[in-house]
Amino acid sequence: MNEPAQAAAAAPLFNPLAPEFIKNPYPHYDELRRRDPVHLTTHGMYLVSRHADVSGILRDKRFGKDFVERSSRRYGPKIMDEPMFRSMSHWMLQQDPPDHTRLRGLVVKAFTARRVEDMRPRIQEVVDQTLDRVIPRGKMDLIEDFAFRLPVTIICDMLGIPEEHRETFYAGTRDSGRVLDPVPLSPAEIAQGNAANMMAQMYFKQLFELRRKQPGDDLTTQLVQAEEDGTKLSNEELTANIILLFGAGHETTVNLIGNGLLALYRNPDQLALLKARPELIGNAIEEFLRYDSSVQMTGRVTLEDIDDLGDRKIPKGETVLCLLGSANRDPAAYPDRPDRLDITRPNIRPLSFGGGIHFCLGAQLARIEAEIAISTLLRRLPELRLDDAEDPQWRPTFVLRGLKHLPASW
Ligand code: HEM
Repeated sequence: MNEPAQAAAAAPLFNPLAPEFIKNPYPHYDELRRRDPVHLTTHGMYLVSRHADVSGILRDKRFGKDFVERSSRRYGPKIMDEPMFRSMSHWMLQQDPPDHTRLRGLVVKAFTARRVEDMRPRIQEVVDQTLDRVIPRGKMDLIEDFAFRLPVTIICDMLGIPEEHRETFYAGTRDSGRVLDPVPLSPAEIAQGNAANMMAQMYFKQLFELRRKQPGDDLTTQLVQAEEDGTKLSNEELTANIILLFGAGHETTVNLIGNGLLALYRNPDQLALLKARPELIGNAIEEFLRYDSSVQMTGRVTLEDIDDLGDRKIPKGETVLCLLGSANRDPAAYPDRPDRLDITRPNIRPLSFGGGIHFCLGAQLARIEAEIAISTLLRRLPELRLDDAEDPQWRPTFVLRGLKHLPASW
């Protein structure tokens, strides 16, 4: 073997924070699916890359979250003293039934298809106002100036955050995503996460006071009232889940819009098709979700010994990482050129929103926000072009996949 070939053979199959992986994870996923579809990583976690396996695990009761145990195993038993981990341990996203069922049940009504459909006019208004502001400039960063404002505004509306408090959120740095990556955090990163968590807790405590005194038609009022009831959720759960809704509701959607626009402008035939046939937007959003998902992975823990996943036997208590981004490009699920963007592809069922009991609560909202944002942009700025479609800057996180900037002009 020559030297480069030896180096390639010795390189770990999964190195998710390496710059070339962040830039384009898909060849690495192909390799994993072909060579070792249930791969044991250097951090001792099982990495699952095939569509059928990922989809099965997400719906299988033998896999759960077991967050406290899993985090203690990774970082030591004192980890739950750290404010950010303690707060996360109360997220519905990290809970198993029956607590998960109880917490999700308190907010699910705000996200039904009907409620979200009713938000269309407001979403259109925010998109139009954003474009009114930037169109005279002749150029913008599609991430900071366009994609970012919409989901933040909408989640602020839903949480009843008053207009005059919002500037801080619009100026947010969006760098909290590292916590989701399957590479342990350094002490400095934990300290940074704690500081951000404490700031958020301080703000939301103030908001709870406001909504106790002045109830509104919003999720915060609803949850504050559930907490006062004394049996439905604790004070810590209230704060943690409001923080979850705020965070989960924007970074991911910004990236759906950003990754979708990048894919579209890199494929001029698809861009021309969507401009000519705007009614394809619904299917195009599903294809954007599949083609370059803004959430690349989610984790589970085996709640019992597993012996029917590929050739591996996985003991109880092990962490299993489900590669959503890889499942979405598995030729076994998408036989017609899965690496090609095709906005007319039939039967797209991306795993980007997960599956089973944790299926994304905001899926319908994210779809409608992206649909209105992208179709309005194409209609109002038909001359728009990307300044650097070939080599844009990616954010340095793996699970939350998105661009730092996407400069465009017209
Ligand atoms: C493109 C946008 C989005 C993507 C790709 C996405 C992805 C996901 C995924 C993969 C999960 C499941 C994780 C797991 O199984 O462990 C999830 C759960 C969740 N998402 Fe989203 N999400 C998006 C937008 C949103 C929005 C807009 C909101 C809220 C406003 C939201 C709120 C949540 C919540 C609360 C959960 C936890 C549900 C549970 O544990 O029962 N997401 N999301």
